[in-house]
Amino acid sequence: MSSTPVAVVTGGNKGIGFAIVRALCKQFTGDVYLTARDPGRGQVAVTKLQQEGLNPLFHQLDIEDLQSIRTLQDFLKEKYGGLNVLVNNAGIAFKVADTTPFAIQAEVTMRTNFFATRDVCTELLPLIKPHGRVVNVSSMGSVSALARCSRDLQQKFRSDTITEEELVKLMTKFVEDTKNGVHEKEGWPNTAYGVTKIGVTVLSRIQARMLNKERKADRILLNACCPGWVRTDMAGPNATKSADEGAETPVYLALLAPDADGPHGQFVSEKKVQKW
Ligand SMILES: NC(=O)c1ccc[n+]([C@@H]2O[C@H](COP(=O)([O-])OP(=O)(O)OC[C@H]3O[C@@H](n4cnc5c(N)ncnc54)[C@H](OP(=O)(O)O)[C@@H]3O)[C@@H](O)[C@H]2O)c1
Repeated sequence: MSSTPVAVVTGGNKGIGFAIVRALCKQFTGDVYLTARDPGRGQVAVTKLQQEGLNPLFHQLDIEDLQSIRTLQDFLKEKYGGLNVLVNNAGIAFKVADTTPFAIQAEVTMRTNFFATRDVCTELLPLIKPHGRVVNVSSMGSVSALARCSRDLQQKFRSDTITEEELVKLMTKFVEDTKNGVHEKEGWPNTAYGVTKIGVTVLSRIQARMLNKERKADRILLNACCPGWVRTDMAGPNATKSADEGAETPVYLALLAPDADGPHGQFVSEKKVQKW
């Protein structure tokens, strides 16, 4: 078994994930895995970084496919005996102009951004080694969506005692409410992406609490973050940041010094803890 530290980035074949892999290849002492659901797109991305003189490794990972997640889990266990850095970057968003019915957009976006990210965490968090770092890429969209939720929902999402099960029920209810055409009446904002990212931010707060309870001595730091508005296929060419600039906050959180005791369980933007 290798004692080399290891980092994994989901959705690494393009956009912010690709830039996170690039930065980790330069700054992380250890093996860096660029993962992608499509091995072809993943290999092209790896080759691009090799041409820059970097040495990422590749592993297939479709975060919506439990078998794919478990194959990666087995591989990491066997080869490294765990994992040092996990960056949950993979995500999707429908374009504003997309005419797909809102309820379908809600279901599809929730499946990837919240449920699949949660599945990756369920399988890989137990593998995180002492002093490990976990970064869940959320969005400022989660903050603005929270502000547009009913008082009752805001209270639930800000609660320091909400459980993962309760959060899953709320995310499921949002999708159901969109199907029944009652989501606004039920206190939800009119943004599927924003609600899925509320899920990611709140999940991170819950996971950090669980780590405090169950593995305090391991000093693992887990946070949610926003990369900023970044020029990628998702956000388009008018966004303000390059992908490398968008990678800065996620990479800062992935490389928090071993003796750091925070941030932990926070929502971080521009390397600063934001009020939730
Ligand atoms: N761009 C922004 O301004 C912005 C702002 C706030 C937050 N974010 C967040 O930042 C993250 C990266 O966004 P981006 O702008 O870089 O988007 P992007 O260019 O569209 O890249 C998204 C990445 O996620 C991958 N992905 C999607 N579904 C996947 C799945 N089931 N399994 C594995 N990989 C999957 C994509 O792979 P394929 O190529 O195979 O589709 C791609 O590699 C997302 O979580 C996004 O919500 C972005």
